[in-house]
Amino acid sequence: MNNNKVHQINHPLLAHSLTILRAQETATAEFRRHAGIASTVMLIEATRHLGVDAKSIQTPLAATTGSQLAGRLVVVPVLRAGLAMLAAAQELLADAPVGFLGLERDETTAIAREYYQKFPGGTLSGSTVLILDPMLATGGSLADTITAVQTRGGRDVVLVCIVAAPEGIMRITTEFPDVSLFTASVDSHLDERKYIVPGLGDFGDRYFGT
Ligand code: PRP
Ligand code: URA
Repeated sequence: MNNNKVHQINHPLLAHSLTILRAQETATAEFRRHAGIASTVMLIEATRHLGVDAKSIQTPLAATTGSQLAGRLVVVPVLRAGLAMLAAAQELLADAPVGFLGLERDETTAIAREYYQKFPGGTLSGSTVLILDPMLATGGSLADTITAVQTRGGRDVVLVCIVAAPEGIMRITTEFPDVSLFTASVDSHLDERKYIVPGLGDFGDRYFGT
């Protein structure tokens, strides 16, 4: 990918889990388990740039200096499918506040409609905002989410998407050139219903068993 804001993560555990997520015979329990594994691997990579402060501590044997995360992190899963990535984020970033945006694509137009919004109080200025959505298709849902975050002052925005389509990447990198994107795969294209090909189908339906 010829854009230094777009990062395709290569890791054997991620490639293994993504293959299980893609396979149409994968049942709900396995789908959920591998969505969690894939999210963990991706979040470790997507947080690699975070700053740390020195921290003095005492081990049972000696005084030493370690590190602690610097700055404020806010996690924003895009409902519904982004919830599949939230448990991994909360495991790694236990005290990060969580904001929610509920969006649902219209089945015929593929345009997202907002039905819920709840962000942590105060400005997001100075925070790193990790937006979680497993599927980046046309980019409409993430464009709306980034706009909502930026309206609250969020400037350091990182997207974590398990599968991304070239069409969505193009839209996001054109409209939001400062936003970083981490993905496990840049797939081929969108079909006439705006589903990602080869993709994995409807992530939310497969994850929630609907
Ligand atoms: C899916 C997915 C993204 C969106 C991507 O959500 O989780 O949010 O589609 O498509 P886009 O890039 O074309 O906007 P969906 O609207 O199906 O809702 P769900 O998460 O409730 O299943
Ligand atoms: N949303 C999904 O869940 N899958 C796609 O392929 C596109 C949007």
